[in-house]
Formats: sequence, C-alpha cells, structure tokens
Amino acid sequence: MKILLQMPGRDAESWRAALAAALPEAEIAIWPVAPADPDYALVWRPPAELFTRVRAVKAIFNLGAGVDALLAVPTLPRDLPIIRLTDAGMAEQMAEYVTLATLRAYREMDAYAAQQRDARWLPRTRLAKAGFGVGLMGFGVLGQAIARALAPFGFPLASWSRTRKSIDGVTSFAGTVDLRPFLKMAHVLVCTLPSTPETNGILGRHTLSQLPQGAHVVNIARGDLVVDADLIECLDSGHLAGATLDVFRAEPLPVDHAFWHHPRVTVTPHVSAVTLISESVAQVAAGIRRIENGQTVTGVVDRRRGY
Ligand SMILES: NC(=O)c1ccc[n+]([C@@H]2O[C@H](COP(=O)([O-])OP(=O)(O)OC[C@H]3O[C@@H](n4cnc5c(N)ncnc54)[C@H](OP(=O)(O)O)[C@@H]3O)[C@@H](O)[C@H]2O)c1
Repeated sequence: MKILLQMPGRDAESWRAALAAALPEAEIAIWPVAPADPDYALVWRPPAELFTRVRAVKAIFNLGAGVDALLAVPTLPRDLPIIRLTDAGMAEQMAEYVTLATLRAYREMDAYAAQQRDARWLPRTRLAKAGFGVGLMGFGVLGQAIARALAPFGFPLASWSRTRKSIDGVTSFAGTVDLRPFLKMAHVLVCTLPSTPETNGILGRHTLSQLPQGAHVVNIARGDLVVDADLIECLDSGHLAGATLDVFRAEPLPVDHAFWHHPRVTVTPHVSAVTLISESVAQVAAGIRRIENGQTVTGVVDRRRGY
C-alpha cells in the first residue's frame, strides 16, 4: 500500500514514524516526494500542484477537522471520498478552552482584573445562573463535547445546528428560523460551525446585535465566520462585553489588527485544539484498515454541504 503524506510546517517525520508503526506494510512518501498513484493521500492545506502530480486511488484523508481549505483547492479530484479527523483528541482541548472562557465571563474575572489594577476592593453581585445561557452554535463532534463539559456547572445550554438534535439538558434550535430565539438566550456564544458558503460572515452585526446585552463571543471555528468590523463595533458600543478569539481571517493575525489591543478581546494563536499525532494517526490508520477491509468509515465529508 502506498501513502502520500503532505503536511507543511508540521512534524512530518514524526507522523511518518507513527504511521509506519500503525501500518507496517505501507510505503510512505513525504511531499514533495510523491508516488504518482498512491492509494491514500493524507493532506493538510495541500497546494493545487499536489493533485495535478498525484492521482490518489482510494481516498483522501484531511489531517484536521475542518475541510474548508481542502475543498477550496481547484484541482481536488471530484470523485474520491474525503475523510476528516473527528475529535482525535481535539474535543477535550476545545472543552477546556470553552469552559475557561465561559467561567471567566460568568465570574466576571475581567471586571475584577480591572478593579485590581486600581486597588479597588469591590465585591460584585453574583450573576443569576439561570439567566446565563450558553449557546453552542454548531453542535457536531466538538459542540457536543463542549456541552458535556459544561453540563455540571448548571448553565442553561442551547444548541444551534442545521438539523435538530435531541440531547438531554440542551435545548435544540435548528436552521435560520430558529436563529433569533437561539441568539436571545446566549450570554456566551460559542462558535464551532464549519466554514462554508452558508456560514461565512454569520457572526456579523445582524446576529451579534441579537445577543443579550453584555454577551461574550467565543470563536474557535474559523476566522471567516466573523465580520471583524461588526464585532469591534458591538464591543465598542458596549453591547458585547467580550470576545475570546482563537481563529482569524488572516493568520497570523496582522500586527496592526484592532483585535490585538482591544480591551475586550482575548486573542490566542489558533491553539484552542492542536492536532495530536498519536490520536490522529490511530484514527487515520483505523480508517485505512476499514477501507481495505471493505467497511464503512466515519468522518466522510459531504461535499455538497461543505463539511
Ligand atoms: N480552532 C481549531 O484549532 C479547530 C480545531 C478543530 C476544528 N475546528 C473547526 O471546528 C469546526 C467544527 O468541527 P466539528 O468536528 O464539530 O464538526 P461537525 O461534527 O461537522 O459539526 C459541525 C456542526 O455545525 C453545524 N452546521 C454546519 N453548517 C450549518 C449551517 N449552515 N447552519 C447551522 N448549523 C450548521 C452542523 O449541523 P448538523 O449537525 O445539523 O449537520 C454541526 O452541528 C470544523 O469545521 C473546523 O473548522 C477548529
């Protein structure tokens, strides 16, 4: 079995070693070295040239959860299955990140930090938890893991997705008709939507203005879901109390971008969930084994939906 591995800026040799241990029969080449017809191409943000030089035979594995960059490659073969990473150790990291941001907002830690700078001893009235809803915008693998992590804290939880869900303790909203009531309850709005033509710019003035006064936005999905100027406007007007942003339209975030120094914005450099080699390789290797055995695999991307 021939495998092509392409992963710029990552530890390709470590991936190759882990893959070789999991699939000892495989011949593994690292791009730009490439067999013309590998059985499987394992890629992350591949250059267009890859698919003109290489004709993968059985499947393409996307070495991340989001497939927006891969689906945008003009030379991507139309007929091959695309399989993405699902969780692979990312859900736990996302749950940590969102729990931290949610508790920080609920316990008003930014306000206490400001008070400390002025040496002001000023206990604040405890916020009523029953009125502090957390809205999970996108309720797939990551959104559901975040809901499980938040459940013990007792915040009202709601989800918004394309299709309705039935999960204990989470009020499900679905589709554009449900967007307004979903946004109205979200004192913390957590976005784990994929980047698709439908979701691009979804966090703009039209949606952000429907969040409750003093809401906090957490974006751990993709930067192009946010209309940056609209978010800054909503923060400056005081309608939003804060934003915790891990992903941006341009990465690295340009040094002159207003997010860097905005007093209500927390910036992290796309680290809410990093790809873990052992978990990811185990998932890819298991997928390859299943395909080789004629079985179905999880994580197959629906190209029409875009995720
Ligand atoms: N920051 C990072 O480091 C990082 C790491 C991993 C992933 N991500 C991002 O997180 C995204 C989500 O990952 P995941 O594994 O949770 O994906 P997933 O399991 O496919 O879940 C996607 C969710 O979004 C919903 N959705 C998609 N389009 C929608 C639309 N137009 N309207 C309403 N809901 C819509 C889906 O609804 P249905 O359930 O009805 O299909 C689903 O609930 C990835 O696409 C990736 O971009 C970021």
